[in-house]
Amino acid sequence: MTSELKNDRFLRALRREETDCTPIWIMRQAGRYLPEYRATRKVAGDFLTLCKTPELACEVTLQPLERFDLDAAILFSDILTIPDAMGLGLSLNEGVGPKFANPVRTVDAIKALPVIDVQEELAYVFDAVRLIRSELDGRVPLIGFTGSPWTLMTYMVEGGSSKDFKFAKGMLHCEPKMSHVLLDRTADAVIAYLKAQVEAGAQALMVFDTWAGALSTPQYMEFSLAYMWKIVNALKEDEKTRDIPVTLFSKGGGLWLEKIAATGCDGVGLDWGVPISYARELIGDRVALQGNLDPTVLYANPETVRREAKLVLDDFGAHPGHIFNLGHGIHPGIDPENVKALVDTVHEHSANIRKQEAGS
Ligand code: CP3
Repeated sequence: MTSELKNDRFLRALRREETDCTPIWIMRQAGRYLPEYRATRKVAGDFLTLCKTPELACEVTLQPLERFDLDAAILFSDILTIPDAMGLGLSLNEGVGPKFANPVRTVDAIKALPVIDVQEELAYVFDAVRLIRSELDGRVPLIGFTGSPWTLMTYMVEGGSSKDFKFAKGMLHCEPKMSHVLLDRTADAVIAYLKAQVEAGAQALMVFDTWAGALSTPQYMEFSLAYMWKIVNALKEDEKTRDIPVTLFSKGGGLWLEKIAATGCDGVGLDWGVPISYARELIGDRVALQGNLDPTVLYANPETVRREAKLVLDDFGAHPGHIFNLGHGIHPGIDPENVKALVDTVHEHSANIRKQEAGS
């Protein structure tokens, strides 16, 4: 599959193979910081319609690639498509964030959750994946993604975003068995969803555990990492998904990197709290590392962006297996010119590091 690609730096880096320079993509690279995204969203009317209209989802997926020399595309969708398909009644309004009309807070509500037929309920996602692959025509690989069971549980139980996770963490403390039923069911849906994305054409997978850092260490092991294991095992046991690289991103998970790497995943995503050299010392030879520039650096000027990007590259050093990214999603207020400075600096400076290494 790699051979059909015109640019396979991203997949090579995930396999810890040599590349001419460090590949880069940006979490939330399609989004509100791009005026062309805002224009397409206006055409769609609202965010969910944008996700559910494959032609428009394809259009916004490709927008950042037209502007910047990115090394991967990521499917334009959302992690909340699974709970939406389970009938929780998702709405997403500007300034309000995601809301579920029917949060899941009782044993009965968990028992009543339907086992979804992902092929049917989420067909619009797979249609988008097929269309994007066809439009990409091998320019760069396409990343498919999901939320982790724990991160999805926070939205399902809270009914939206939360600062304190009162209900979701309350459920872990008071109803651990019930929590496991919910997480296990969600993990099954996640596995079916990822497999179907690969079948439709996704060439790499990413699991976003955005709210890992809300958990204590024992809670993370029991309620989040255990389901990451389940997901990675299921993908690696299936011959259709075995060779598709999987990256796990647990935001706030700096303390647990060795455990995350031990799941059998191919890449570990880092937030900006962990020095990338420290992560490499711990786990860098076993997995690829993705990250980890502080996204707020992009509020500064191009000169600062270039300086800070070089610091991350120098800190990783001249080894294979680095995929440059931000430590979390790009913010809506960022100037696209700074993104261009970032992407170009990553390619140029990492190529220079390789030249210097070869000459020394
Ligand atoms: O990276 C990409 O370009 C692909 C698209 C993508 C979106 N959401 C689009 C989106 C991806 C990978 C996601 C994942 C996602 N969604 C996560 C995990 C990654 C992370 O950032 O932590 C989470 C926690 C969500 C849930 C979610 N979706 C929230 C909390 C919000 C509202 C926050 C906000 O910025 O308004 C969304 C909406 C959302 N998902 C937008 C986009 C571009 C903004 C919607 C809009 O107003 O256009």
